[in-house]
Amino acid sequence: MSIATDISQEELGIIGRSTAVREAVETLRRVAPTDLTVLLIGESGVGKEVFAQALHRLSSRAEKKMLSINCGAIPETLLESELFGHEKGAFTGAVESRKGIFEVADKGTIFLDEIGELTPATQVKLLRVLESGTFTRVGSTEEQTTDVRVVAATNRDLEEAVSRGEFRHDLYYRLNSAKIFIPPLRERREDIQLLFAYFAYHASARLGIPFGGIAPDAMEVLLEYPWPGNIRELKNFTELIITLEQAEKITADTVFEHLDTSRMRPRMNPYGVVHLPGKTPEQAERELIYRALIDLRNEVVALKEVVQGSYGGREGIAPNPEQFALPPSEKEANNLIDRLDTLNLEEIERTMIIGALRKFNNSRRRAADALGISERTLYRKLNQYKEEGYIDDDDGVEEEPGEE
Ligand SMILES: Nc1ncnc2c1ncn2[C@@H]1O[C@H](COP(=O)(O)OP(=O)(O)OP(=O)(O)O)[C@@H](O)[C@H]1O
Ligand SMILES: [Mg+2]
Repeated sequence: MSIATDISQEELGIIGRSTAVREAVETLRRVAPTDLTVLLIGESGVGKEVFAQALHRLSSRAEKKMLSINCGAIPETLLESELFGHEKGAFTGAVESRKGIFEVADKGTIFLDEIGELTPATQVKLLRVLESGTFTRVGSTEEQTTDVRVVAATNRDLEEAVSRGEFRHDLYYRLNSAKIFIPPLRERREDIQLLFAYFAYHASARLGIPFGGIAPDAMEVLLEYPWPGNIRELKNFTELIITLEQAEKITADTVFEHLDTSRMRPRMNPYGVVHLPGKTPEQAERELIYRALIDLRNEVVALKEVVQGSYGGREGIAPNPEQFALPPSEKEANNLIDRLDTLNLEEIERTMIIGALRKFNNSRRRAADALGISERTLYRKLNQYKEEGYIDDDDGVEEEPGEE
């Protein structure tokens, strides 16, 4: 049977131009035409299933079936029956004899997902079929032969499972003969934009909703977000946001609303990465806040000049509002830009103080530290904000700090 080698990466459903993905696809193309057992390794949502399908399509078995089983989702007895079949009466509920996938997928491919979840007894049976191509149905003694190619996937560190005695080392070596590592999305950020565009295009076509585009600062947030759920999370997010935004241009604010950005480092600001050699993280953070305050003040002054018409033709100081991609705790600062006519330094100070307090879970000491003011000053300010109604009683102002 001829092997299709001219199927493009995109036709295989694998979007991505990062070196890591290209290398993974290259390995995939190399091992696909062989009958080697392949182990796909990668976190949840990186595309292990997509790679398994692609392997099958690029193999000599492409015209036969590929059957999949999630080894982590089925209890042991049922799993063995799914894999190898059973005879009538083999266990309670086995009212008919039934073929397993090693029998049904003869000459085809079997995809065993979450292989790390196999129990020791099933590991033995799998090793046997991989080594000799033989198996027996549950409840039978009759040996059968099969010709299947196995592709397995895991999001666990199998080597560690082997060293802990949870996974047979002989099975591991057998599975490991060809392995493909699919890197998490956060390690191939250059693919994020492409994947977003791809999912946006397909979602808008499928849902019949025009895609209104995405603002550069919103894309910045997507590029920075760690994507713990990998490509699946990015796909779901894209579909959700297109559905909700209904052809509107996607802004950074909208992105913040729908992504849990609390895990992001505090570098999502227009002031650059916190990279201060020789400084402790606390010092660097404090300096960042200072810089942010100073820069914000400068930008605000410049903006005010623009708004009030006193912008005397000076070049390059009017900031581009799209640069303001701020984390949620600093969202108020972003809103300030929209209220230029009433803006003053007191308001900026209040935003920074309340923001710092929230950031440090109402720890006045840490907030004061970060802001470079005394706890007493912070306390005084908080009381003032309370009186002015900007914060509630429970916003970390109950107790009087000790004397300095
Ligand atoms: N490179 C890619 N290009 C386009 N879409 C992709 C890519 N990788 C994954 N996807 C899509 O992302 C989703 C998750 O992929 P998949 O189910 O293959 O991940 P997985 O690694 O098997 O996850 P899990 O470990 O949770 O089973 C699917 O909808 C898939 O189509
Ligand atoms: Mg999967």
